[in-house]
Amino acid sequence: MTESSGLIRGLEGVVAAETQLCDLDGANGRLAYRGYDIADLARQATFEEVVYLLLYGELPKAAQLDALVVGLTAAREIPREMLQVFRMAPKATDPMRVLQASVAILGMSDPDATDNSHGANVRKAIRLTSQFAVAICAHHRVRQGLEPVSALAGLSHAANFLYMLTGERPGPAAVKAFDASLTLYAEHELNASTFTTRAIVSTQSDMHSAVAGGVGALKGPLHGGAGEAVMRTLMEIGEVANVDAFTERSLAAKRRFMGMGHRVYKAGDPRAAILKGMAEEACKQSGQFKWYEMAVKLHARIAKEKGLIPNVDFYSAPLFYSLGIPVDLFTPVIAAGRIAGWGANIVEQHDDNRLIRPRADYVGPKRREFVTRDKR
Ligand SMILES: CC(C)(COP(=O)(O)OP(=O)(O)OC[C@H]1O[C@@H](n2cnc3c(N)ncnc32)[C@H](O)[C@@H]1OP(=O)(O)O)[C@@H](O)C(=O)NCCC(=O)NCCS
Repeated sequence: MTESSGLIRGLEGVVAAETQLCDLDGANGRLAYRGYDIADLARQATFEEVVYLLLYGELPKAAQLDALVVGLTAAREIPREMLQVFRMAPKATDPMRVLQASVAILGMSDPDATDNSHGANVRKAIRLTSQFAVAICAHHRVRQGLEPVSALAGLSHAANFLYMLTGERPGPAAVKAFDASLTLYAEHELNASTFTTRAIVSTQSDMHSAVAGGVGALKGPLHGGAGEAVMRTLMEIGEVANVDAFTERSLAAKRRFMGMGHRVYKAGDPRAAILKGMAEEACKQSGQFKWYEMAVKLHARIAKEKGLIPNVDFYSAPLFYSLGIPVDLFTPVIAAGRIAGWGANIVEQHDDNRLIRPRADYVGPKRREFVTRDKR
């Protein structure tokens, strides 16, 4: 544009959609999915129930939940070409890149691939929720030279994720913590990755194309990649006794503290409070309590020095680590939760679409005469 139009850097505070999915009250640190408080959902609902709630608007009755589980189970068979891609991928490749490729491959064979109707979008969202878990776990097995593990009938989505990852049946405490984590990550209004998915489908593109973009946005360390970065920070610190010296050094170097701060929550992220309790329990259970202690001390120091609050990715790091999840799978695990919200947002966007196309203030050189190559 030729004249300034009130640039809002990072679109902070800009309202770009109406949604019935997520009620995010940043000033009071509250979060609800379709009217249900996040703490109630994390403690009392299963991830499958949350998926249903996001897609259909209500908590499911028993028969409705059964039907959803049938849909999730039926989608677990992933295309054989995908396993070939996993085998061909460089061993050291970031699993988020592989997940992004997986979504693209799944789009090639999905029976509803280019159907953007409400019904097709709901079916695709259910399939992708199931296929994300299978793809992440199968790739992890293959990169270790192991065979993928098939899901077990009768296990929940969360339990099957841990089972397909390790080949071992997880205990009830681990399943509950993992299930609640998926719920806590399931939806969060117009975060960068969800906004990305909405922008993509606003062109009348399809769910798989949008979700592949969402995976790319989530990967960044200012978004979902922060959880992995938190764990790497804790590992760098090493011991509780080193937290103070680390904080001093980091403050002097003006280093960004991962897992701290949030664009919308200023009083506190309600998900972090729930994850803190779960991390404490899981670190106790695993016999690695130092990660929790270190996180608590680091949180207190950064809050005091910078006035920053821990976000969802801060305490999920020691939690995931204690559950035995490899550090480079933290972001794929977050994606395995957030796919529920991406799917529901894509349904909403397609149901009431207008092309998302903001403007930019032009700040480059004024119009000038073209210079031929011999005169430059
Ligand atoms: C999430 C985040 C990107 C939101 O920040 P934002 O609203 O865009 O705010 P900005 O990045 O513009 O930062 C505003 C100020 O706070 C500081 N700040 C914000 N988060 C910070 C952090 N984690 N560590 C150190 N300083 C931080 C910035 O340095 C900046 O200070 P300045 O004004 O003196 O330059 C930011 O808090 C962050 O980078 N956190 C770490 C990454 C993370 O955990 N991401 C997951 C989010 S769920």
